Amino acid sequence: MQWKIPLSDIDFGPEERAAVEKVLISKWLTMGAVTDEFEQAFAAYIGAKYAIAVTNATAALHLACVAAGLGAGDEAIVPSLTFVATANAVRYAGATAIFADVVGEHDLNISVQSIEKAITERTRAIIVVHYGGYACDMPSIMKLARERGLKVIEDAAHAVGSELDGVKLGIWGDIGCFSFFSNKNMTTGEGGMIVTNDEDFSKRMHLLRSHGMTSLTWDRHKGHAWSYDVVDLGYNYRIDEVRAALGNVQLGKLEANNERRRRLTQVYRDALQELTPQVGVPFANHAGISAAHLMPVLLPAGTNRPAFMESMKAQGIQTSIHYPPIHTFTAYSSENEIYFLPSTDDIAGREVTLPLYPAMSDKDVFTVVKAIAHALTPA
Ligand SMILES: Cc1ncc(COP(=O)(O)O)c(C=O)c1O
Repeated sequence: MQWKIPLSDIDFGPEERAAVEKVLISKWLTMGAVTDEFEQAFAAYIGAKYAIAVTNATAALHLACVAAGLGAGDEAIVPSLTFVATANAVRYAGATAIFADVVGEHDLNISVQSIEKAITERTRAIIVVHYGGYACDMPSIMKLARERGLKVIEDAAHAVGSELDGVKLGIWGDIGCFSFFSNKNMTTGEGGMIVTNDEDFSKRMHLLRSHGMTSLTWDRHKGHAWSYDVVDLGYNYRIDEVRAALGNVQLGKLEANNERRRRLTQVYRDALQELTPQVGVPFANHAGISAAHLMPVLLPAGTNRPAFMESMKAQGIQTSIHYPPIHTFTAYSSENEIYFLPSTDDIAGREVTLPLYPAMSDKDVFTVVKAIAHALTPA
């Protein structure tokens, strides 16, 4: 399908090509010096002591869950309005994901009250998701977690570069996980990063990333080691040098691209105000600086969403849904839990995500808003 305005687009140019070519010429493709450089640059950017590059954010979340001590019989509280990876990671660790509700129409993030209600004797961790790059109420969540002795993992897949109270998201909690999937604010195709300030967590996740081995191929290549022990049951969640090279270049472009995303978000908000009937615009008065990863809107109650999205498609505009809630999935329906998540259910039925990417023009935004007006007009 050739879209007039796609949902997302990546900012790749000669810089990325040159960085990849340099790696290819070096002939060192597996995790090595370029990955080290990427991890150091990322840690410095976030303000974290440690950064660990991995294959994707799903792997990052899995390692975070294991490092946080989640195992059989434990529970972790997660939002249902997120990508399934957030909850899957809990299950990979052998624990159970317990779903909490979101705040409401103006804030699609996990609600502190709902987290509090979901805490049981088995709860070990809270995994927050900064929906669309907008910060969860981290001061309240951290206070609650500390009072109850719970670990906090931030799924910051949408939030690379977001800030709250001058602190980057991903480093508010115990462990933060980022995604560099192709539609994210910075991309390496597939890729992810874990950040933490905790030395023990960092050591464990470094080990688990590569089969629990005490030395890696890169160490042996550098002559630092010739054998290794395996001290834990780990995984192969390593990134490679080609992706790390892309990450280095993309990180350099991130601030400018996030700024453009924020500007476009404002253009959308102003233009959407003129619409009748009104669509809901979440996060309009949100605290902090958002990475503005997504542009979600809520259709008026009773709107036929599939018909709306078909009409947008017919006008050449790609839209999406974030998200079908996890508690409604077949793979999660056998868990014997009946969930009452009224805000999640309401929002999940009305949410539509509009195109947003740095290369969009203000005119593109007006085209999308005009298309929305048309799609909402009764035939
Ligand atoms: C909120 C959220 N969490 C986790 C992930 C998983 O990221 P990855 O595709 O890098 O494994 C995504 C990816 O889309 C996401 O949006």
